[in-house]
Amino acid sequence: MSHSRTWTRASGRWFALRWCRTCHWSGFDKGCLMRLEPPETNQERDFASFTETIQRAFGLDVAAYKSTQVRRRLAALCTRRGFRTFQDLGRAMQSGAVSRDEFMDHLTIHVTEFFRNPDRWRDFAARVVPQLATLGRPVRCWSAACSTGEEAYSLAITLAAGLALPQICIWATDVHPRVLEVAAVGRYPVASVAEMPVEDVRRFFETDGEQVVVRPSLRRCVQFAQHDLVTDRYPGGLDVVVCRNALIYFTDEAKERVLTQLCASLRTGGFLFVGGTEQIAQPIRYGLAQVSRLIYQKVDDEPRVSAASANG
Ligand SMILES: C[S@@+](CC[C@H](N)C(=O)[O-])C[C@H]1O[C@@H](n2cnc3c(N)ncnc32)[C@H](O)[C@@H]1O
Repeated sequence: MSHSRTWTRASGRWFALRWCRTCHWSGFDKGCLMRLEPPETNQERDFASFTETIQRAFGLDVAAYKSTQVRRRLAALCTRRGFRTFQDLGRAMQSGAVSRDEFMDHLTIHVTEFFRNPDRWRDFAARVVPQLATLGRPVRCWSAACSTGEEAYSLAITLAAGLALPQICIWATDVHPRVLEVAAVGRYPVASVAEMPVEDVRRFFETDGEQVVVRPSLRRCVQFAQHDLVTDRYPGGLDVVVCRNALIYFTDEAKERVLTQLCASLRTGGFLFVGGTEQIAQPIRYGLAQVSRLIYQKVDDEPRVSAASANG
């Protein structure tokens, strides 16, 4: 007896129908219903158990990332490494057959560039830097989820238009250690600085063949460190937080938690600079006022969403 299988959805549930070819049953009414199996549940169970394993073994909260995207990317890793289920991947990570770095390469995207969205950096230079320059003290900034460092160096270069380099203190972090290694070295292809004013390139980079290297004077403004926006503690009293193109990866709940904590990291009067797709719908909920399209200023120390409640 041979059977072919098809899936059908009825009453909001998936059913596996196996049609018996030998006895010529066909059609839903006469279908030879061999088994009821909601496949989504199995996959979800597999994924949920995988995320628990990863959280326990590596302290990474995969559930904070948008499920469809993260599953698609991790499914690509499974296929490449020949794993049938996410749990197989989890076991391979526990045994060391798949490294944390390889996993992190697939968890999120690390694309970045110097002065990404240049108009928004011009806004920052025009509206934020002059205010920071009047402080007459070192400014404390955080480039959160900085990837390979271009964003942190762009911030330092922008601030250098109004502040002396020793007054610029940038803490630049990412969850992925491999990108931070690149950032700390500060070596990039010449093409990556092609859009920058020539005088800035000369002042802040040394040319080495087809590459440029960040000069020590600029490099000293930035301190790189590993930090997980979902699970680690946040600093406080900052003048500037730049967190761009990272929030988009998180679930709405995680995004709100991260955003709330980023805002709590700012002193009153401090500035938050977000990515092109991360505009904040009701900034006042977070104690923020909008300065320009992607830049906000903290005006209220007691926002409607508190860091404590966002932490659960
Ligand atoms: C698309 S890149 C954005 C880089 C840079 N901010 C920019 O806008 O050009 C996203 C970065 O977020 C980092 N990331 C993802 N999840 C993170 C987390 N939980 N904590 C800190 N960084 C995270 C990734 O490692 C990646 O380098």
